[in-house]
Amino acid sequence: MCGIIGVLGTGEAAPRIMAGLKRLEYRGYDSAGVATVNNGRLDRRRAPGKLGNLDAVLTDNPLPGSAGIGHTRWATHGVPNETNAHPHATERCAVVHNGIIENFAELRRELEEKGVVFESETDAEVCPQLITYYLETENMTPAEAFKKAISRMRGAFAFAAIFSGEDDLMICGRKGSPLAIGRGDGEMFLGSDAYALAPFTNRVTYLEEGDWAVITRDTIDVWDESGAKVTRPEKISAASQGLVDKDGHRHFMAKEIHEQPEVIAHTISRYVDPVAKTVHLPKGSFDFARLDRLTISACGTAYYAGLVSKYWFEKWARLPIEIDVASELRYRDVPWTANGGALFISQSGETADTLAALREARANGQQIATVVNVPESSIARESDIIFPMAAGPEIGVASTKAFTCQLVSLACIAIAAGRARGVLSVQEEQDLVSGLLELPRLVTEALKQSDHIETIARDIAKATGVFYIGRGVSYPMALEGALKLKEISYIHAEGYASGELKHGPIALIDENLPIAVIAPMDAHFEKTISNMQEVMARDGKALLISCKDGIAKAGAKAWATIETPKTHPMLSPIIYAVPVQLLAYFTATTKGTDVDQPRNLAKSVTVE
Ligand code: F6R
Repeated sequence: MCGIIGVLGTGEAAPRIMAGLKRLEYRGYDSAGVATVNNGRLDRRRAPGKLGNLDAVLTDNPLPGSAGIGHTRWATHGVPNETNAHPHATERCAVVHNGIIENFAELRRELEEKGVVFESETDAEVCPQLITYYLETENMTPAEAFKKAISRMRGAFAFAAIFSGEDDLMICGRKGSPLAIGRGDGEMFLGSDAYALAPFTNRVTYLEEGDWAVITRDTIDVWDESGAKVTRPEKISAASQGLVDKDGHRHFMAKEIHEQPEVIAHTISRYVDPVAKTVHLPKGSFDFARLDRLTISACGTAYYAGLVSKYWFEKWARLPIEIDVASELRYRDVPWTANGGALFISQSGETADTLAALREARANGQQIATVVNVPESSIARESDIIFPMAAGPEIGVASTKAFTCQLVSLACIAIAAGRARGVLSVQEEQDLVSGLLELPRLVTEALKQSDHIETIARDIAKATGVFYIGRGVSYPMALEGALKLKEISYIHAEGYASGELKHGPIALIDENLPIAVIAPMDAHFEKTISNMQEVMARDGKALLISCKDGIAKAGAKAWATIETPKTHPMLSPIIYAVPVQLLAYFTATTKGTDVDQPRNLAKSVTVE
């Protein structure tokens, strides 16, 4: 899973490739590289680590040429060093690749038996080697060699290639991974998404599954998987040219946490009539009265948002919910129902596991809806219904504002479902909408605990591990709290349903393993507090996260407390997300980890 950029321009390509790569760094930052053709001569520069390292290499050793390709890598096969960095090249061509070539080992063996020598450990290198083999031994043209090479590969991928002796040629293809071609004036661009192309052009053509294309400065020729020449529509992209900045915050994550009151308000305004206190869904949405089941699927944090919504759909709409992580959904033999709907949740809209689960649901006759933050993404483009969220660009790898906006969208969808299925009364809908409308103010209130949470985080940073517990809608919040902490602070953390602790994990409790107790004053409060007492009776350090009344009632013997504003009990996850995010953030800053780009991760996971 990586970012690809290509330029057939009129000026120097390398600086523009670097500008495009900067916008694709969210897709991986293990290593990066650029290759150009200059007067027929191929050359490349590569560097391990973040893009800044490649920038330094290019400053010392510039790369001339107006045609080129670039890549930012999230390692799948081979450690992230310079040799494994893309572009991979031979004397004849240079290639960048996003995805996984599942049969690379057999292709590599076949080529090695023919005397081809490989330089790297990557799956990607088989592509330039295979193309070169066809160019040299079968005397093919670049287009014929590219076409034959990709027909030999299995897996999910996007490729772009440039060729020695060809200053006006770029060939690309996609199967499973996204690729967009941008048209300028006498120039052409290629990118993993329209956002990467935004500094150069807003005229964008998306390649479809199995397409491959031959691009010159003036022409785009596209063929589909069957070999038929096709025309793909050119669209005007709305992706913004501006690079998002930190707006005075130390990290994107901090900025994004603090943006939540505003983006939550924007998301609410997409669904809610504040005067009538009703919820409205986009036209063509599910016919909830007819739906016999809703299958929800997503990955990571987006999955936890889905898990919260299961409680909402079941309570407010009495709608049977099937929910699973996207990487598993399609490996089960799900007994799909005749009138089923499937709802996918994704910030990026490019997550390969989620896209694969979506296609599985479609193949099984389900109507497809998504809650997605990037409206031009692959997942959005393959959906029948798009439920908007208005989080704006999220740059920090750990999802924060996208999560709370996903929750707001899902709450609105579940309320509308409740009304359509005759479960929620007018009064109940109005009460819930009033609860939603209060959220921006309450989130602002929750953010005021920032300094206090920073103090607590100094102790959490010394812990060997942390448990999070919660019941009902707070159970997915325990999972989310643990994920947030482990991914950016590298402290081992687990989330449990409060009642599960005594069935095993409580054996691990001691003074070095604090336990965060997510306990809004809802119907489960007393029971969760009993579970907290069980921990404290075994010398466990309990951090109670609750409202003022909850802390007054149960906080006396807790190791520490974090106060949250009181909210509608079912909507509490949208408020409790804030302390959970801040705790992870400050623990990570105390430890000095790379908050916005934690090790081994990428913002958009485009491999399965
Ligand atoms: C964790 C995080 C990930 C993503 C997951 C799905 O903080 O951000 O767990 O939620 O990779 O990504 P999207 O929402 O882009 O499909």
